[in-house]
Amino acid sequence: MSLITLVDFNWHGDDRGSLVSLESHRNIPFDVQRVYYMYNTQPEVTRGYHAHKNLQQVLIAINGSCTITLDDGSTKDSVELSSPRQGLLLGSHLWREMSNFSTDCVLLVLADQHYDESDYIRDYDAFLDYISA
Ligand code: TYD
Repeated sequence: MSLITLVDFNWHGDDRGSLVSLESHRNIPFDVQRVYYMYNTQPEVTRGYHAHKNLQQVLIAINGSCTITLDDGSTKDSVELSSPRQGLLLGSHLWREMSNFSTDCVLLVLADQHYDESDYIRDYDAFLDYISA
């Protein structure tokens, strides 16, 4: 089974341009408590290298592109995000790495919890221990 769950957002485009709307419990499957974004990421940079105990997120490349690799401890899957009309649903208990950022990439993240360092698992062996416990 693939670890990649993509959601297609409705696109409200006309001759003026494009508009996409994100709403909790409509096209985002949780209450949004936090929004953050990554930009100006250098192309050789790979970031992430962590999992979460409880956090749910939706990742959207609202400009440019990047690759997200997910790992549940036994399977790995990668996807290129390159459309502002599409979101990647990311549950907890998934090790994630982000790479191949285009220089113009703006990666928007919606999250269902405030930032909490204690929700992070930043060591891969600790992640494997956590999910097998
Ligand atoms: P970090 O977790 O290293 O980013 P990533 O794993 O995506 O590469 O986060 C970089 C810094 O930003 C780190 O000091 C924590 C801080 N941060 C916040 O303060 N709030 C947030 O919502 C996030 C995601 C990070």
